[in-house]
Amino acid sequence: MAARAGSFLAVWVLCAATLSTGYGLNTANAVYGETIIIPCGQEIVDGLLFGKWKYEKADGTPVFVAARSDVKNKISYEDVPEYKGRLNLSENYTLFISDAKISDERRFVCMLVTEDNVFENPTVVKVFKPPSQPEIKNQPNYMETGKLNKVGECVSLESYPGGNITWYRNGKALEPVAGVISIESSNDRSATSGLHNMQSSLQYMATKDDIDAEFICTVTYYMPNGQMAIESDMAIFDIYYPTEKVTIQIHSPRKTIKEGDNITLRCIGNGNPPPQQFLYYPPGQVEGIIGSSTYAITDIQRNASGDYKCSLLNKNMIASTTVTVHYLDLFLNPSGEITKKIGDTLPVSCIASASKDVAVTWMKDHKTLIQPSFTNLQYRDSGLYECETILFEVDGLRRKETFRLTVEGNPRIKLSKKASSDGKTKTIIYEVEGFPKPEVQCTSMGNGVFLNRTKEIPVSETKFSAELIISPEENVTITCSAENRLGKEIVSLNVSAISITDRDETNGRSEDNNDNAKLIIGIVVGLLLAALVAGFIYWIYMKKSRKRAACLIQRIGESVLDSSSATKHVGKELGNTEENKKLEENNHKSEA
Ligand SMILES: *[C@@H]1O[C@H](CO)[C@@H](O)[C@H](O)[C@H]1NC(C)=O
Ligand SMILES: *[C@@H]1O[C@H](CO)[C@@H](O)[C@H](O)[C@H]1NC(C)=O
Ligand SMILES: *[C@@H]1O[C@H](CO)[C@@H](O)[C@H](O)[C@H]1NC(C)=O
Ligand SMILES: *[C@@H]1O[C@H](CO)[C@@H](O)[C@H](O)[C@H]1NC(C)=O
Ligand SMILES: *[C@@H]1O[C@H](CO)[C@@H](O)[C@H](O)[C@H]1NC(C)=O
Ligand SMILES: *[C@@H]1O[C@H](CO)[C@@H](O)[C@H](O)[C@H]1NC(C)=O
Ligand SMILES: *[C@@H]1O[C@H](CO)[C@@H](O)[C@H](O)[C@H]1NC(C)=O
Ligand SMILES: *[C@@H]1O[C@H](CO)[C@@H](O)[C@H](O)[C@H]1NC(C)=O
Repeated sequence: MAARAGSFLAVWVLCAATLSTGYGLNTANAVYGETIIIPCGQEIVDGLLFGKWKYEKADGTPVFVAARSDVKNKISYEDVPEYKGRLNLSENYTLFISDAKISDERRFVCMLVTEDNVFENPTVVKVFKPPSQPEIKNQPNYMETGKLNKVGECVSLESYPGGNITWYRNGKALEPVAGVISIESSNDRSATSGLHNMQSSLQYMATKDDIDAEFICTVTYYMPNGQMAIESDMAIFDIYYPTEKVTIQIHSPRKTIKEGDNITLRCIGNGNPPPQQFLYYPPGQVEGIIGSSTYAITDIQRNASGDYKCSLLNKNMIASTTVTVHYLDLFLNPSGEITKKIGDTLPVSCIASASKDVAVTWMKDHKTLIQPSFTNLQYRDSGLYECETILFEVDGLRRKETFRLTVEGNPRIKLSKKASSDGKTKTIIYEVEGFPKPEVQCTSMGNGVFLNRTKEIPVSETKFSAELIISPEENVTITCSAENRLGKEIVSLNVSAISITDRDETNGRSEDNNDNAKLIIGIVVGLLLAALVAGFIYWIYMKKSRKRAACLIQRIGESVLDSSSATKHVGKELGNTEENKKLEENNHKSEA
C-alpha cells in the first residue's frame, strides 16, 4: 500500500513540478516516515559551477543543507542536526530526505550557480499521515428506546493533517438532529508530534427500528493522492423497549386437558428484555396473584375450567385464555360380584357424565352387546359385564366399570328311557340343569343300589346329561336326585323288565311351554287340513254319485280318525302341559 502510494506520489509530484515550473510554487508531497523527493525543478544549465539546497526558517532566514560541485563532482552536506543522515543529493540535483516528519513541511530552495547567474527554485514540502483505524469506545450494553442513549466515542489517533469523524447507521451518515441525534467532535493536536487525535461522541434516540442496526464511524483524512477514509468495526446494540402486548399460552402435555393433568400457563410480554413478573387472575380472581412468567396448576380438576388472565404488574395489558378441563365419570349399577336366582329381575344402568356428549358401550365376556336388561334372568346371562365410555376428543380419557353376574337356580332333572336294539339292556337318560351344578345320584327302587352312569356330557352351557344302562330282571322304578346348595329334585321313572319292551318315555320337568304350544298348534292345523281335504273331496264327488260319495265319506272319516289317534300318541310321548303337571305332582316327593 505504502509502496503503491509512493510510486503514485512520485508521478504526481513530477507532474506538479513540471506544471509549476516558472511560477516558483512547486509542491512536494510525502507520506510521513517515507522519503521526501524534491526535484530541483530547474533545467541543468550550461556552465554550471555548483548547486545548493537550503530551506527557509519561519522567520525567512535561510539554512543551507547540501551542495554539489558540478566541476569537482563532489557532494557535501551541511552540519544541520535536523537533517543529519537523512539527506541524499543526486547528480541531477534532486534532493531526497528520508523519514519524512511534520517539521519537514517548509519551503526548500534549489540554487544553481553559473559564472554569471544564480537560478533559484523553491518547492513547498507537504507531509501526510493517515490516522489509526477509528475505534468505538465505551459502548453501552444496550440502548433504550425513547431516550437519548450514548452510542460511544469514536477515536482515531495521530493524523496529519487532521481528519474528520463521521457516524453512520446502516450505511447512512448521521447528522445532528435536535433531541434525536447529538454529535460532539473534537480534534486535538499534539504539541510535540504535531499529529491530530480525533474523537466524536454520539448520542442517539433509539427506536425499535434500531434492533440489529449497524453503527460505525469513519475517519476521513487527506493523503498525497487525495481524500481517504477508514471505517471502524461495526457496533450492534441490544435495544430495550417496553412491552406493548401481553399474551398468555397454555402448556399441557396434550392438545386437550383432562382431570389430573399438570398444566402451565405462560405469560409473555413482547418487550425487551421480556418482563419477568406478571399478575395472574384465575377464574373468579379479581386481585391478581403475582407470579413469574409461568403459572403452574397441578392435578387440575373440572372446577378449574374457565378464563385465566394475566397482566403486567401495573395491571396493564391483560391477556386472557380459556382453560377447559375434560372429565369423564361412569356410574355402573350394580357393580362387583352379583348373584341372582334364575327368573329374577335385575335392573342395570350405566351412565356416563362427561365434559362432552359420550356414549357407553357394553361388553359381555369381551364380546360387545347392547345395553342388557334382565326381567327374567337365565343361566346364559351369567358372565362378566363391562360398561365402557371414551371421550374421543381427549387422548386416553376412558372409563370402564364391571360387574360379574352369576345366575343360580335349583336343580331340575328329567329322565327318559329308550330300549336298546338287542333287547338286553335298557338305557335311562337324565338331563340335569341348575347352578351351581347339581350332583346327581340314581338308585333303583327295587334294590336300593346306586346305579353306575356314563360320564356327564354338556348338552348346553348349563345342561348336562348322562346315561344309565341297566338290565332289569323285573319291573323297577328308577329314582334320580339332583342336588345343589339351593335345593334338591327327585324324579322317578318306571322301567319294565327286559323281557317287556318299554315305549320311550320321559319323566321329569316339562319342556318349555312354548314347544308344547307349537305342538298343539301343529296338531290342530293337521286336523284342520285333514278336514279340509275331506271337505274338498266331498265337494268333488258329491255331484257324480251320491252313493259313491257316501261310501267315500265313510272311508275318509276312518282315515281322519286314524291320523288323530297317531297324533294323540305323539302327544302322549312328549307330554302335554296338563299331563306334565300331574307327573310333577307325583314325582316331586321332596324338594328342599
Ligand atoms: C544516495 O543515493 C545513492 C543512489 O541513489 C546511493 O548510492 C548513496 O549511497 C546514497 N547516499 C546516502 C548518504 O544515502
Ligand atoms: C534525478 O535522479 C534521480 C536518481 O538519481 C532520479 O530518480 C530522478 O528521476 C532524476 N530526476 C530528473 C528530473 O531527471
Ligand atoms: C473536514 O471537514 C471540514 C469541514 O466540513 C472540511 O472542510 C474538510 O475538508 C474535511 N476534511 C476531511 C479530511 O474530510
Ligand atoms: C403432576 O405433578 C406431580 C408433582 O408435581 C406429579 O407427582 C404427578 O405425577 C404429575 N402428574 C402428571 C399427570 O404428570
Ligand atoms: C375445586 O374443588 C375442590 C374440591 O371440590 C377444591 O378443593 C378446589 O379448591 C376447587 N378448585 C377450584 C379452582 O375451585
Ligand atoms: C359300577 O362300576 C364299578 C366300576 O366301574 C363296578 O365295580 C361296579 O360293580 C358297578 N356297579 C354296578 C351295579 O354295575
Ligand atoms: C310306577 O309303578 C308304581 C307301581 O309299581 C305305580 O304305583 C306308579 O304309579 C307308577 N308310576 C308311573 C309314573 O307310572
Ligand atoms: C310290568 O309292567 C308291565 C307294563 O309295563 C305290566 O304289563 C306287567 O304286568 C308288569 N309286571 C309285573 C310283574 O308287575
